[in-house]
Amino acid sequence: METKILTTSKEDLIIAGNIIKAGGTVIFPTETVYGLGADALNAKAVKKIFEAKGRPSDNPLIVHISDISKLEGLVTKVTENAKKLADAYWPGPMTLILNKKDIISSEVSAGLDTAGIRLPKSEVARQFLAECGVPVAAPSANLSGSPSPTTFKHVYDDMYGRVDAIIEGENCEVGLESTVIDVTGDVPVILRPGGITPEMIKKVCGNVKLAHGIDGVTDEIKPKSPGMKYKHYAPKCDVILLEKEDILSEILKHDKEQTVILCLGENVERYNGYNVINLGNTYDEVATNLFASFRKCDELGYKVALMEKVKEEGIGIAIMNRAKRASKK
Ligand code: TXA
Ligand code: MG
Repeated sequence: METKILTTSKEDLIIAGNIIKAGGTVIFPTETVYGLGADALNAKAVKKIFEAKGRPSDNPLIVHISDISKLEGLVTKVTENAKKLADAYWPGPMTLILNKKDIISSEVSAGLDTAGIRLPKSEVARQFLAECGVPVAAPSANLSGSPSPTTFKHVYDDMYGRVDAIIEGENCEVGLESTVIDVTGDVPVILRPGGITPEMIKKVCGNVKLAHGIDGVTDEIKPKSPGMKYKHYAPKCDVILLEKEDILSEILKHDKEQTVILCLGENVERYNGYNVINLGNTYDEVATNLFASFRKCDELGYKVALMEKVKEEGIGIAIMNRAKRASKK
């Protein structure tokens, strides 16, 4: 199919909104990753998302809204925890799971009674969503199985010819997908870690839990977040996660030319003489660069990537979650 490339100008965002209203698909930038959107109230349009991505249809989609006032129309009840978290962290990289109203089709929720709702922080994303005038269902705009796209180039490489339009925006600032939080119960449960950290949730709600099996490809038949079943975020090369002290002994077991080390900026010099990709100087930078670095490993033809572990605190929890999943074979 023909794919229009649109800018972030007002005129182009109106065009993008009209494509969504007409039942088409548009890829748009957000602060986390690029999303592949369609009208969440139009089952036929939503099916096009699964086709474009090659995604199994038992994995539910997040519904994006332009304004907090749109939340009540989509869910049966805005719980206390949902109110507190929305007040504190919306617009932002956070998806709230709540019991859905029937208006959200089962194509979006993959048959669940709940739906994930997100109000993104990106100005372009919100202007686009406002032009759509309908809630927009959108997964990350990668082909199923490959790392989420954080730049226009990633999106173009994966999706050109598979969607009606792509909005060419900036690189994504957060770089990891939103924190998904089940707020249907008394205690918020993190189904997928992200930029809104457990500490940030605890601060607002007093309590927080991490869902079981969050870092692995779980064997549970019905995991709380169906996306947890799938191996995700993976480059084609083998990713091996190691303490930095163990990298130089591990690399001797591999072909030097075909192996690359993914490390923090402060450690680059430890690995003189080896292929290195600098992930960034801070954990926020590592989050921003992680998926792009995974893609770079494949583009440069490496067979093995040795990645330094980061501390599982703050956004480090989300970084390690994606890295562990990328390293599962
Ligand atoms: O940052 C993001 O969240 C990006 C941007 C585009 O907003 N979107 C995104 O969507 O990452 P996706 O489809 O790649 O990941 C959505 C995750 C999946 O793991 C899915 O299983 C989970 O959210 N999810 C969606 N709806 C759910 C629900 N009702 N209950 C449990 N988990 C749900
Ligand atoms: Mg995804």
